[in-house]
Amino acid sequence: MTDFSGKLIEYSTWFNQNISAFFPLPQGAEKRVVEAMYYSVSNGGKRLRPFLVSETAALFGISREQTLPAAMALEALHSYSLIHDDLPAMDNDDLRRGKPTCHKKFDEATAILAGDGLLTYAFELLSSPQTSPSAAVRCRLVRLLAQAAGAFDGMVAGQMLDLYTEQTHADYHLEEMIKHIEEMKTGRLIRFACEAGAVLGRASAAQTKILTAYSRKIGIAFQIADDILDVEGDPTLMGKTLNKDAAQGKLTFVGLYGIEKTRTMARSLITEAKQLLAPFGTKAETLKGLADFIISRSV
Ligand code: IPE
Ligand code: IPE
Ligand code: MG
Ligand code: MG
Ligand code: MG
Repeated sequence: MTDFSGKLIEYSTWFNQNISAFFPLPQGAEKRVVEAMYYSVSNGGKRLRPFLVSETAALFGISREQTLPAAMALEALHSYSLIHDDLPAMDNDDLRRGKPTCHKKFDEATAILAGDGLLTYAFELLSSPQTSPSAAVRCRLVRLLAQAAGAFDGMVAGQMLDLYTEQTHADYHLEEMIKHIEEMKTGRLIRFACEAGAVLGRASAAQTKILTAYSRKIGIAFQIADDILDVEGDPTLMGKTLNKDAAQGKLTFVGLYGIEKTRTMARSLITEAKQLLAPFGTKAETLKGLADFIISRSV
C-alpha cells in the first residue's frame, strides 16, 4: 500500500464513522427518504472529495474535525449527483459502489427525493454555525458550492452536455467540448473541495489561485481516469457496470483518441497539477500524492 492510499483509507474510515450523526432518522413514514439518503452516502466510496477539503485546509493548519461539516456537505452533494446520474432517465445503472443503486434498492420516486434531500441538506450544513463561526465564511461556501453544482457553469450543466452532446458538437471543437464536459460534470465539485479548504483556511488570493488551478487540472484528470476505467477497469473493484460510455454514445477522450493517448493527456495534467503546488513546499506532499492517485487508481 502506498503512503497515499494508507492516508486515504485512514481518512475514509474516520469519515465513515462520522456519517450517521449527520443523518438522524425522522419518526414518521417520511423517514424512508432519509433512509435512502443515508444508504447512498454511507454506501462506501473513496471519500476523495472530503479528503481533498481536509488536506487543502490542512495546508493552513486547520484540523480535519473543523472541516467535517463542509466535507460532509460536499459528499452529500456528490452522492446526490450519483443517485440522479444512475436514474433510468440518465445513465440507467443498477449498481453503484458494489450495491444496488438507490432507485433499485428503494424506488425511482424515492431516489429522486433522496437526491433532492441530499442537495438541499448540503446547503443546510454549509450554512450552519458548526461549519464556521464566521457568517462571511459560511456565505462564501454556500455561494461557491451553488456555483460548482449548478446549471450555469457547474455540475448540472456538465450533466446536461453529457446527455445531449450530439446537439452541441457543432458549436465547439470536439477536444474543447470534451474538456468542457469533464471539467463541469466532475471537475467543478473537485474544484469546490479545494476552494472550501482555502476558504476555511483563510488562504490568500495568491494561494487560492494556485489551489484553484491545481484542482482544475486534477478534476479533468479524474473524469478522464473514470472514462479509462470504464473500458479497462475491474468491475468487481469498481462496483459499477463498466463499458457503458461507448454503448451510451458518451463523448469522451477515450472514444476520440483511444486509451494510450488519453492516458498521456491525463498524465500531463497530473504533472502540471503537481508542479503548481511548488510554492507550498513539503506541506503539499499529500496533495501531490492525491494527484498521482487519481490516475493510478483501480477504483
Ligand atoms: C464517480 O465518482 C463519479 C464521477 C464523478 C466520475 P467517484 O469515483 O469519486 O465515486 P466514489 O464516491 O468513490 O464512489
Ligand atoms: C458522473 O459521470 C458525473 C456525475 C455524477 C456528476 P459518470 O456517469 O461517468 O460517472 P459513473 O461512471 O456513472 O460513476
Ligand atoms: Mg453520467
Ligand atoms: Mg454514470
Ligand atoms: Mg463513468
